Amino acid sequence: MRIEKELIRDKLSDYLPYLAFDEEHQTFINTDATTGYLFECSPLYFLGEKSIKTLSSILKQDYGNGAVLQFILFGDTNISKHCEMIKGGDIRKTDLTKKISDYHTKFLKNPENYKQKIKGNKLKNYRLFVALKTQKPIDEMTILAFQETLLGAGLHPQTVNAGELLSLVRQLLNGSKHNQTHYDDLKPISPQAIFANTDIDFSQTIAKINDELISVLTPKAFPDQVNKQGLTSMQVNQLIGDYMGGLGDLNQITSRFIWSCNILLDKVTRELQIKSDMANIQKLGAKRKNNIADRISILSDAIKDMNNGHYLKFIPSLVIFADDKKELATATSRAIRLWESQGFLMQKENQIKHIIFLASLPFGLYPGKKQRNIEFIDRHFIARSESIVAQLPLQGDYTGFGYPVVPFVGRKAQVQGIDLYSKQANNHNFLCCATSGSGKSFFVNYLLSHYFAAGAKIRINDIGGSYKKICSVLGGMYIDVADKSVNLNPFQVSHDLNKSYAG
Ligand SMILES: Nc1ncnc2c1ncn2[C@@H]1O[C@H](COP(=O)(O)OP(=O)(O)OP(=O)(O)O)[C@@H](O)[C@H]1O
Ligand SMILES: [Mg+2]
Repeated sequence: MRIEKELIRDKLSDYLPYLAFDEEHQTFINTDATTGYLFECSPLYFLGEKSIKTLSSILKQDYGNGAVLQFILFGDTNISKHCEMIKGGDIRKTDLTKKISDYHTKFLKNPENYKQKIKGNKLKNYRLFVALKTQKPIDEMTILAFQETLLGAGLHPQTVNAGELLSLVRQLLNGSKHNQTHYDDLKPISPQAIFANTDIDFSQTIAKINDELISVLTPKAFPDQVNKQGLTSMQVNQLIGDYMGGLGDLNQITSRFIWSCNILLDKVTRELQIKSDMANIQKLGAKRKNNIADRISILSDAIKDMNNGHYLKFIPSLVIFADDKKELATATSRAIRLWESQGFLMQKENQIKHIIFLASLPFGLYPGKKQRNIEFIDRHFIARSESIVAQLPLQGDYTGFGYPVVPFVGRKAQVQGIDLYSKQANNHNFLCCATSGSGKSFFVNYLLSHYFAAGAKIRINDIGGSYKKICSVLGGMYIDVADKSVNLNPFQVSHDLNKSYAG
């Protein structure tokens, strides 16, 4: 394989796998003569037992020899769609509501100006892609069942077409702003992914694409539990950032990134193969000492359990993109800290960073004949399917629900929004409770101002005067019922909401 011999410079498009898109079957035809099925899914807020069980069944399916299943979590910093929705949510367009939505979009678009508040974390939209690559096209029923299983695991798969794939890879191969979806179906896909003036250089210690700097990380060792009880969802959730309290803001991957996991679906059955893997590992000698003990322990567990379990090879990788050296250093060291605090041992790739980078893109791993490239890359682990699923990049941050009427930012820097009156909501009541002085009134004022902008009619029964100010700012009427003989019935509903209560 040429890629083994030379470092990529400029012509990375030669190594990209995308040849054509079959509109009829909604599949990709790859340069290595494989067929590609690509879905964009919704990341899970939390990975539960049911999803683990459901997804493990996919890993046990037969998609033919040499099939590769890949999960890619993309911390996408392109949030303009969300910003447009926030602007679009301002129906009233008064001076004040315009000011609020302008301020909020400016805050989202240029978080640099708000460093104090979000501790330098780039705001993101977490996106999940699932790619299946097979040696031969698989029949329609099998792929429908595949999609059905993803749906059953709560991932809501949507088929990705050529334009959407190009939008994804363009922003990874040319810079974050280049997420254009145009596609010329008369030309091969790969050359369309990299623009003529894009400068790609993986020959230096720090890889560079135009002005963006890149670091590529892989695990050198997995935590011990991986082949015993498996990693817990909590542990894996924290690999992209802490979810607890204000201090958690410091434990986040600050920049944009892709975390990818390739799973080779050829069942590792023969003990011999495992033993030969062990022999290879031992041959590596003292150079990678830390790695050996761990991998041998995984492998020997695997041998003992060979007949009961379903074991597969998998390769996790993390690619971090940053605007400058300082951002790259911060994001990389935080990522290493996050992974190592969960028991991983991480390494920064140098010699083969271009190969791992490529393998992190959809369909980008070329196992080669008899998985020769996998042996060459030597970054794989072996674990039982359930354990592999448990460590997959499936969990993002809470995204909210409905139209983002009331915008928020999650702990992992996910742009969020909620709509309490969303049609998806079971009912339209909510309770806000927290300790005194923790921001309840502030939050409800914030919520009210956004619903006011969205055109909602608002009635407040206020005990304590917390809403006097907002009422006056929004041009409402405040009726002080100081007279104790007046009783208000909160359950009385006026059907004529337009009726004026003034005067
Ligand atoms: N999101 C926020 N960002 C910055 N400051 C905030 C935020 N939320 C609340 N605060 C500040 O915290 C203080 C207390 O907030 P607030 O009055 O809303 O709390 P509360 O829970 O309603 O208190 P109480 O229990 O006394 O009614 C206020 O001075 C407010 O300015
Ligand atoms: Mg209050």
